[in-house]
Amino acid sequence: MFIKIQKCLVFVSCLILAECDIYLHNLRGSNNRLDEPNRERRNAKRLFDSQNNNRGGYNVGNVYYYSGSKLPIEWTNQHSCHDVNGHCEIIMQYMCNENLRDGATIKTIPENQKECSNADCDTDYEYGMHESYTHYLQCLTRARNEHLYTADQIPVNRRNKRNKVKDSTYTRQNKNGQRYGYECPEERDYYPYWAPSPWIDVAILTNDASRCPYYQEESENVKGRFYCHIPVEEMKKISNSNAINHNKEACEAFCSTATSTAKKECGWIQSRPHGVPAPDCRETEYTRDNHLGNGIGGYASGFNWTLPKTENKHCAFRIRYNISTGDYDGWNTNFKQNEPDGISTKKFGFSSDEEAKERGYKLKNNPTVDLFPPYLFSKNSFKLELAINTAQFGRTFQDRSHSFEIRKRKDEFGDKVIHNLNVRGKRGNIVQVYPAVEYDFVPNTMEIAKDDYIHFQWTGSNTNPNNNDGQGKIGTDRSNVILQREAIYTETNVLDWYDRLPKVGHWGRSLPQHFSNISFLGLSEEDKLKLAFLEETGELSELDAAKPYFDLGPRKVTSSGVYHYMSTRNNNFSNRSQKGRIISVSGITFEFHAIGWNGGNISSPHGTCDIQIERGTFDQLHRIKLSEINKDEVEQKLHERNGNIPNGKISSHLILIEPDNVLAAESKKFQMKIRFERPRAHSVTVYHAWVKSDFATWSKIDAEVNDDMVQLSVSNGGAYVVTTHSNVGMIVGIVFGTLAVILIVVVLGVFYLRKNPKTYNNIKRKFQSKL
Ligand SMILES: *[C@@H]1O[C@H](CO)[C@@H](O)[C@H](O)[C@H]1NC(C)=O
Ligand SMILES: *[C@@H]1O[C@H](CO)[C@@H](O)[C@H](O)[C@H]1NC(C)=O
Ligand SMILES: *[C@@H]1O[C@H](CO)[C@@H](O)[C@H](O)[C@H]1NC(C)=O
Ligand SMILES: *[C@@H]1O[C@H](CO)[C@@H](O)[C@H](O)[C@H]1NC(C)=O
Ligand SMILES: *[C@@H]1O[C@H](CO)[C@@H](O)[C@H](O)[C@H]1NC(C)=O
Ligand SMILES: *[C@@H]1O[C@H](CO)[C@@H](O)[C@H](O)[C@H]1NC(C)=O
Repeated sequence: MFIKIQKCLVFVSCLILAECDIYLHNLRGSNNRLDEPNRERRNAKRLFDSQNNNRGGYNVGNVYYYSGSKLPIEWTNQHSCHDVNGHCEIIMQYMCNENLRDGATIKTIPENQKECSNADCDTDYEYGMHESYTHYLQCLTRARNEHLYTADQIPVNRRNKRNKVKDSTYTRQNKNGQRYGYECPEERDYYPYWAPSPWIDVAILTNDASRCPYYQEESENVKGRFYCHIPVEEMKKISNSNAINHNKEACEAFCSTATSTAKKECGWIQSRPHGVPAPDCRETEYTRDNHLGNGIGGYASGFNWTLPKTENKHCAFRIRYNISTGDYDGWNTNFKQNEPDGISTKKFGFSSDEEAKERGYKLKNNPTVDLFPPYLFSKNSFKLELAINTAQFGRTFQDRSHSFEIRKRKDEFGDKVIHNLNVRGKRGNIVQVYPAVEYDFVPNTMEIAKDDYIHFQWTGSNTNPNNNDGQGKIGTDRSNVILQREAIYTETNVLDWYDRLPKVGHWGRSLPQHFSNISFLGLSEEDKLKLAFLEETGELSELDAAKPYFDLGPRKVTSSGVYHYMSTRNNNFSNRSQKGRIISVSGITFEFHAIGWNGGNISSPHGTCDIQIERGTFDQLHRIKLSEINKDEVEQKLHERNGNIPNGKISSHLILIEPDNVLAAESKKFQMKIRFERPRAHSVTVYHAWVKSDFATWSKIDAEVNDDMVQLSVSNGGAYVVTTHSNVGMIVGIVFGTLAVILIVVVLGVFYLRKNPKTYNNIKRKFQSKL
């Protein structure tokens, strides 16, 4: 009996389907696409190696963001994160460069500079380009890291099979040295990378947050890279098999052979770090296998990016998704476990490597394993073929945005927060757009403090496949914003801070509200008209005359309320829904920050509260929301919630930390500072209450009290407030008490002397003799 099951799904199934991908939805991921009319993108090698399905990506995505503004990044990844099924790292970066561009052709930028105008591809704008040609040349002339685990993927020289491969365009995942734009394959596959890279780190999310200190210390944001600096003309002379080892000795040996003019510039030097703070680093959030969908809570995986304080017209965003199986310890496996020895077989439960090998247990491509010992069933063997591709046992996927601009803030915005509101998705039904998504607003629900700025902006394309479902002119993406109508029935809501806010429109209504004379965030009639008709004239019933790009610019939100809105063109109940909600609150300001084991700091927008969470304080990721409720409104807001008011005079903003739970790990505490106003001669008490128990009980909290600040060491979320109590009453009491005692003494004295006139006369005499 010989059982051979082809493509047995013992191991991670993406290895067969080659579909475990990452797709960026906001910013719009390109997946190498350039405004192409087909469902499949045409050139997977145009700018970078995504390893994604050809259907992924958005046609266009050129937008701008103000520096320092808040942008929700959204993506879907097809395999698990924060799960035992595999290791997962998500690495987000951006780069800006004056020559960075999407290009005008789907052809890959040439390697041979003579094929470009002026023999300089960096400035031949016909071709899309992210990394520069010099970056690629450095990759070609730098020997690959031979200490890396390559399993049985022995790199072969694409140009001359007999030549030994040396340069870093060859990796386990890219064993034939395939070129993708000017990306360096070794830099793509490994992070942190050992040679200079133009990519600035934004954030690293990992299943193993204990690696965060390492990532943050090694990030090129804060640490320059040593490398062999060789003038470009000299680099061009180095052949692939002579790539220079990545160390000082090899570099200096090469430089000593360079021409005398080149010698001056040639040498082992350290590059300057990017000079920005180390990236945020924290745990990944849970997503499950074989599912390009939402995470826990029903929203796409996300990260809130605060745009850097920089100004540049040509930037790109990059997200990498690194997954490795649990079959080997990716971080502690190296070239020594390559062929012919392979990975230790202890894990497979055999007594010796020989036996394991005999039975086919070896990390190589598609091994056939003998599962039962032969003696059990006489001479029959039980062999199953495993679908294993050692090139993919640790694998990096990638998506990149189209080029975008980071713009300087205008003075009129002051220090207010700008929130970006965009549209994700593309034209078509769920099957036609996959692995992209149908239209949606991002963020779908936005919480904003009154007086902050909201920046409506979106873009799309005119070249979606013609048969994709949707309203308006075929092939085109358009969106607009219109208020929905009031609910026609009343609903009981979960009691929250927003209960008393005016509710405008209802999620469930597909008929729009009349849009004039009704407040929408306090926007002017003109702005509302623009949101509805996109600043255009012509046939606009389905927005056909409008351009695919729309920008309202940042607008101050001047009214509070819960606003439900939709796009009239794309909302087609029950085929498609494009609806969003903006919650604008007054008297409450807030800040979000997801913090896990690695710790972090978070400050309330008005700076009245600072929280400092040391590394190791949390043992899991918490999406922290830190709110401050204006001091003058605390009593009213507590009344609205049927809560009790703590004793004394409310002297600080009410600080709310959500989740309203125990946050710190057992016996751990985090530090909190709350600023308050202390009138003279007042004593200070700090109180805590749980929101979930409707502020029924306020308990006193130990605090170190300074003049205008209390410092607490706490482990819980919930509500904190500082109250003060006047000391005047006590002083008055003491004064009156003392006076009363004196009076009693005097009265008693007089009474005594009256009764004893002798004593009185004695005293009188003594006084007179003294005078
Ligand atoms: C991916 O993980 C492997 C370990 O499994 C590591 O060697 C590599 O540097 C990582 N690459 C990226 C891009 O994170
Ligand atoms: C991003 O910020 C929003 C509020 O603006 C918050 O609701 C959301 O949970 C945050 N997302 C993540 C991934 O932290
Ligand atoms: C709504 O969507 C369906 C399915 O895509 C389509 O047949 C119909 O024409 C759409 N309605 C409008 C008004 O365009
Ligand atoms: C719209 O508002 C203006 C000013 O508040 C008011 O004079 C006018 O009557 C309103 N029109 C409608 C139709 O409600
Ligand atoms: C939704 O789509 C189906 C076909 O896909 C169509 O028959 C139906 O009329 C659509 N609904 C609306 C309201 O257009
Ligand atoms: C948090 O704040 C403290 C004190 O200001 C500072 O020393 C520390 O570096 C900060 N930590 C982070 C992660 O920013």
